[in-house]
Amino acid sequence: MAEAIHVEGLSKIFNGTVRAVDDISFFVTQGEAFGFLGPNGAGKTTTVSLLTAQLAPTAGRAVVDGIDVFRDPAEIKRRIGLVFQESTADSDLTGRENLELAAALFGVPRGEVRQRVDSLLERMQIGDAADRLARTYSGGMRRRLELGVGIIHSPRVLFLDEPTLGLDPQGRAGFWRYVQELRKEHGMTVFVTTHYLDEVDLICDRLAIIDHGKIVATGTSSELKDRLGGDVVTIRTERSDPAMEEALRAVPGVLSVSSQDGAYRIKAPRGEQLIPALVTACGQAGVALTSVSLKRPSLDEVFLEFTGHEYREDGMTPTDRAVRVSQVSQAFGRTRR
Ligand SMILES: Nc1ncnc2c1ncn2[C@@H]1O[C@H](COP(=O)(O)OP(=O)(O)OP(=O)(O)O)[C@@H](O)[C@H]1O
Ligand SMILES: [Mg+2]
Repeated sequence: MAEAIHVEGLSKIFNGTVRAVDDISFFVTQGEAFGFLGPNGAGKTTTVSLLTAQLAPTAGRAVVDGIDVFRDPAEIKRRIGLVFQESTADSDLTGRENLELAAALFGVPRGEVRQRVDSLLERMQIGDAADRLARTYSGGMRRRLELGVGIIHSPRVLFLDEPTLGLDPQGRAGFWRYVQELRKEHGMTVFVTTHYLDEVDLICDRLAIIDHGKIVATGTSSELKDRLGGDVVTIRTERSDPAMEEALRAVPGVLSVSSQDGAYRIKAPRGEQLIPALVTACGQAGVALTSVSLKRPSLDEVFLEFTGHEYREDGMTPTDRAVRVSQVSQAFGRTRR
């Protein structure tokens, strides 16, 4: 499969000291949804800014949709779509005007603008509010409008920087539904940064975990979970029996067995495949089962394993907020209200 994004040794050091992005390398294949997961200050927004040619790197190379990002930034901006972490819709324009402005900025042919704007308004379910000022929109409506702005020119690669920050679960689910539909229809590649571990599990084909500017792990969420030593099958029985532990340990594929008060915790890479053999082993040991359950490790545990610290959701410091606002203003070349 062709690569939509190829990154090699990319670094960004701010003010000669802050290593926001520290020698990262990865690729994303065409049509893939790739998640970039990390806590506050990990370097996610900086990576997006680099890959979308908003920011010059300190070192390294990036190719997006076959174009060298740092040699041909203008072409990159034409080919990609971007939905920023912070709200970027112009509050003093209507939803329709926001989309028309974006169409003009991205060079959508004049004859197509009307049809595209109408169809996106419909699609994002803001048709009824199309001619209202964006300042009157709810958070969910604004995010859908901004997604519309990000894709008005049918980009080949869509960058989403924490697009669902601040949305309620319903708003988040709705947003992802649109993104998934777009992927299906246009085979669009999606690069998404997020704090929400569950979103990564749901949306992304593969992911990278970034911490302190460095990628600490890459793979599918399942692969990363497997590297933790796999699943835990818990078998509960009516009484504890010393023969049980032996019988369970003898089942091929079992990594370890521990027991407490008649409950047996069995670690195995593919727990679901082992359940029939485990149940048979219990039967042969003559022990009656009361329940069997399977637990896959969560991405929180994956994060802890690869970074050595818990996945925190810290608040933003005032400095981070100031940096964020300036990133957005730069990206859109106008002052935010
Ligand atoms: N323009 C800048 N000047 C100085 N430092 C910066 C600048 N932009 C980002 N940083 C710093 O680089 C580091 C990475 O920031 P970045 O915004 O990329 O993190 P992030 O992973 O997007 O975090 P968050 O989850 O809070 O959005 C932080 O320490 C941040 O303060
Ligand atoms: Mg960020």
